[in-house]
Amino acid sequence: MADLNNSKQNSDLRVPKHIAIIMDGNGRWAKRLGQPRIAGHKEGMNNVKRIAIAANNLGVNVLSLYAFSTENWTRPSKEVNFLMRLPVDFFGTFMPDLIKENIRVMVTGFTDKLPAKTRKAVFDAVEDTKQNTGMILNFAFNYGGRAEIVHAAKMLAIKVKNDEIDPENIDDESFSEQLLTGPLGDLADPDLLIRTSGEERISNFMLWQMAYSEMVFDETYWPDFTADNLVEDIKIFNDRDRRFGSV
Ligand code: FPP
Repeated sequence: MADLNNSKQNSDLRVPKHIAIIMDGNGRWAKRLGQPRIAGHKEGMNNVKRIAIAANNLGVNVLSLYAFSTENWTRPSKEVNFLMRLPVDFFGTFMPDLIKENIRVMVTGFTDKLPAKTRKAVFDAVEDTKQNTGMILNFAFNYGGRAEIVHAAKMLAIKVKNDEIDPENIDDESFSEQLLTGPLGDLADPDLLIRTSGEERISNFMLWQMAYSEMVFDETYWPDFTADNLVEDIKIFNDRDRRFGSV
């Protein structure tokens, strides 16, 4: 585990405020070991704790993790059921650590479609950590970028219909407020997206919010992704020249 607090090597690291991670490669990690895919998800879950603590120690403000997409329901039901149990398992085990580390849990997704037990585990975690002032650990769970944008458009259409807003006044800011990440305010847009496992796609993750995110595609399978990998990817981000459409 990297010595994140004391390492001289990392003293000039400029840490992104918001890091988003597509935690890919659980299935291939398990296959490589001759284990079922769900074993990869289990180890992936354990790694969420390690990386959340590392990111919090580095001073990251928001860590958004793509844990279940609106498209993942098409996976075999055994795998979907396992993934739906992960929040119960995760918060049941790691809540004391999250509280000790001052980490605040948030969820971004269509939570009304989740099984009752999953929803309860997630919302209990949000409630139990709402006083924490450290990093926001934002789980994208039953999340899809297009569905989120369609939902925001519907919300604005309803406001227009009810004469609450003039269509002329709809702009980037009022649109962002209607997105599921609206509560994150100025921190809603990731500075850095990391996707593990060597795949190079966005896969419907935070489409609006990632308009100007830097992207780093890391070869490591998610269960093997360490605090050192995180620091290395932040260094790559530090070498990028962010111009936001300017010169
Ligand atoms: C993609 O890998 C990973 C997922 C669909 C699930 C990610 C979930 C976790 C890492 C655990 C989340 C933890 C909590 C607490 C909710 P894949 O299965 O597509 O991998 P593959 O491409 O190698 O098959």
